[in-house]
Amino acid sequence: MKLRLFFALWPDEALRETLAEAAGPLRAACDGRPVPKSNYHLTLAFLGGVEASRLDGIRDAAAGVAAGFAAGVGTPGFELVLDTAGHWRRAGVAWLGARRPPEAAEQLAGFLWQALEPLGFAAEQRPFRPHLTVLRGCRRCVEVGPVAPVAWPVRDFVLVRSETRPEGARYEIVGRWGLARESGGSGRK
Ligand code: 2AM
Repeated sequence: MKLRLFFALWPDEALRETLAEAAGPLRAACDGRPVPKSNYHLTLAFLGGVEASRLDGIRDAAAGVAAGFAAGVGTPGFELVLDTAGHWRRAGVAWLGARRPPEAAEQLAGFLWQALEPLGFAAEQRPFRPHLTVLRGCRRCVEVGPVAPVAWPVRDFVLVRSETRPEGARYEIVGRWGLARESGGSGRK
């Protein structure tokens, strides 16, 4: 059986509320379907359809990344400030993003791909552009730009299983790893 998987940063409940408020002007300025705030996430690495038997190997790779993060980057987490909004016409998505993405976010995505490559996954060729999608099927946006900044203290990352349902995407967290050395690699939800 194949599972559709991706690694992501996963906001907590309070942050979801704040992000939904910050995205208000974007929703007002664009067409498309709003992503339910319970589905908000920021993708680090999209794996696509993967045989379920490979899940353990992927989890082990993630645990290794988590265990090495604090030493490699020199910090047990990082702060991501989402302070701008944008629209990608071809993809039909409108998003919240960071005018100054922290290097640590890109490093985390890079470490994940480094750990996944030996498992046969091909790293994303396009540069990492951290974004949190708030509208899909979006063709028209009249105004995008700075939004009220939302500070996101990132302390862990998750592995998510995605199922496409008629009513939209359903996400299930199938692994979570802390970035601080002592909690790295738990793999618990
Ligand atoms: P998006 O929000 O820009 O569409 C689950 O589909 C998550 O993986 C989404 O956040 C999506 O980004 C991201 N993703 C990255 N590459 C993808 C791809 N090739 N196909 C589908 N989703 C992708």
